[in-house]
Amino acid sequence: MKIGAIPETPLEWLALKLGLVPEPIVDTHAAMLLARTVMAGAELGVFDALAKGPLGVEAVATACGAAPGPTGLLMEALAACGYLRRRGGGFALTGRSRKWLLADAPASVRDKLLLQVIEWRWLEELEAFVRTGLPLEFHDAISAAELDLYHRGMRALAQVAGGEVARRTPVRRGATLMLDIGGSHGHYAAELCRRHPGLSAEVMDLPEAVEAAAPILAREGLGQRVVHRAGDATTADLGSERYDLVLMSNLAHHLDDGQNRDLAERVARALKPGGAFVIQEPARAEPSGRAGWAPALLGLYFALQSRPGVRTWTVAEMAGWQAAAGLRPRRAKPLLTAPGWVQQAAIRY
Ligand SMILES: C[S@@+](CC[C@H](N)C(=O)[O-])C[C@H]1O[C@@H](n2cnc3c(N)ncnc32)[C@H](O)[C@@H]1O
Repeated sequence: MKIGAIPETPLEWLALKLGLVPEPIVDTHAAMLLARTVMAGAELGVFDALAKGPLGVEAVATACGAAPGPTGLLMEALAACGYLRRRGGGFALTGRSRKWLLADAPASVRDKLLLQVIEWRWLEELEAFVRTGLPLEFHDAISAAELDLYHRGMRALAQVAGGEVARRTPVRRGATLMLDIGGSHGHYAAELCRRHPGLSAEVMDLPEAVEAAAPILAREGLGQRVVHRAGDATTADLGSERYDLVLMSNLAHHLDDGQNRDLAERVARALKPGGAFVIQEPARAEPSGRAGWAPALLGLYFALQSRPGVRTWTVAEMAGWQAAAGLRPRRAKPLLTAPGWVQQAAIRY
């Protein structure tokens, strides 16, 4: 999945073909303006103000506590980009904004857009990171309010992929207990438990993350079937032959190679025979392979966010940790609802 210059008229198509369009400006200035405009619509509540039906600019500005003039400009820009449409003298939601951007929509990614206001600040440090090699180590610097938004943002993305993850994750017949390492909101564990009625889950995360994510997990309504367990994945004793499934989604890129290797060994011990260890990650391209946009851009971004020595990993590296721990890796499967992400599963025999 990529973004880029898409002509709106035949003349623009021709100009693009002739190499007259400054594509780096489209990739940067246009992409930046589009991103921040849609984020502003979410942050200021423009989409939610239109949830019950079309409204004029004045009414939306009042609902958002914003100035009518700039609100009108924002709404015109959102309409030009397909996030609103003109209706009578006012504006209405489009299918895209109704599905993805209303706070209460079942598929809402609004909280991720709110988190992106913080991520925007982090990205301002990209050049300094590349110059110095010093990443942000954001886990140590994030405020309580930002941490709350971080877990809500992760939950919003998990909402999109949750159904597919539950369908694709290998869960053997009669499975009773799973562990979701670095599980935050616990939505993947909750979806897996809904799909497999005999399954319960422990969702392990750092103590401060458990505190922030507890109200999000409670809203899953699964009570004692899906519970948080405070622990550090780099040191926790995971026990022996305890779990039918261990899921690790989006944690491997916060750990270094040695930590992932050591964790895979403890996971292998903790699995019952026949159980599966599933790593879910944006896969870095193999050294000779073709890099997709999303994994390559995310690889750079995650390295900026995290700690020294930490990055995204290739499928071969992830399967290598599993094989070294005595597990039998399966072929990685891409996730349709998360472009660039794969599930790398391995079975304990
Ligand atoms: C990117 S989030 C992924 C959340 C969830 N698994 C998902 O895929 O949506 C990474 C999670 O790993 C947790 N984490 C980071 N380091 C950890 C550690 N050493 N032990 C346990 N959890 C950790 C973070 O607190 C955070 O909740």
